[in-house]
Amino acid sequence: RYLKNSTTLGRQVTHRSRVHSTNTIASELLSQGAPHGTAVTADEQSGGRGRRGRSWISPFGGLWMSLLLTRPLPLHRAGEITLLAGVATARALEHTFGLPARIKWPNDILLHQKKICGILAEIRADGENVHSVILGIGMNVNLTENDILPELRNKASSLQMETGQRFSRAEVMGAILNEFNPMYTELVENGGGFAKVQEEWLSLCAHLGDWIEVQLGTERKRGLCLSIDRNGVLLMKMDNGQEIRVPSGEIVASET
Ligand code: BTN
Repeated sequence: RYLKNSTTLGRQVTHRSRVHSTNTIASELLSQGAPHGTAVTADEQSGGRGRRGRSWISPFGGLWMSLLLTRPLPLHRAGEITLLAGVATARALEHTFGLPARIKWPNDILLHQKKICGILAEIRADGENVHSVILGIGMNVNLTENDILPELRNKASSLQMETGQRFSRAEVMGAILNEFNPMYTELVENGGGFAKVQEEWLSLCAHLGDWIEVQLGTERKRGLCLSIDRNGVLLMKMDNGQEIRVPSGEIVASET
């Protein structure tokens, strides 16, 4: 209902009331031959997964969605999918709902400096070729304070908590797919990818020019966030003036 005619993703949606993880269901559908662009949504997840092996609390009221993408892509470009999905999500919140969403590298979506959405892509490759991606997007849409763990309340929130309004999960989902569809097509068909939205990404970045702390495996590094390059690599300047490149990791703290 909320999809533009040109949007090919999400034409088929499997909705369940309660699942372990929509990513798992999407993976099952994939092995049963479900077509490219199939979306799986659920009201609740009992075993929602987050990045870095964490769990993702997924009560009723949130948008828990996994998208099946099966167009071939070189493996070294797979990381761009989650970056593009981050831009698409922030753009959807901004354009469709007028909310000042920002991105925390690599792909957390923040509203008023608090995380309201996370993205987790599971990539399947055959050698150097990606043949399928399960793109999981979890957004705290109509969650209330009680839904957020007390220890996370200073850094996590929901659309409803930040705006005092309720949102249609289907409308939020449609808005994300409408934004993501052309970006993904550009990536798989023309190799456009992240470089095309790098400027926009930088304008949406929540911590450009801030002091940040990045977790790299077991190590933490503190430095000034300088930029994100055309490949999505984070560039940081350390206390001693040295510049480093961080291809993947996670920002664990920031200060302006
Ligand atoms: C993160 O750690 O920030 C990523 C969270 C991703 C959560 C979504 S909800 C839909 C999909 N199913 C899952 O189990 N995880 C993703």
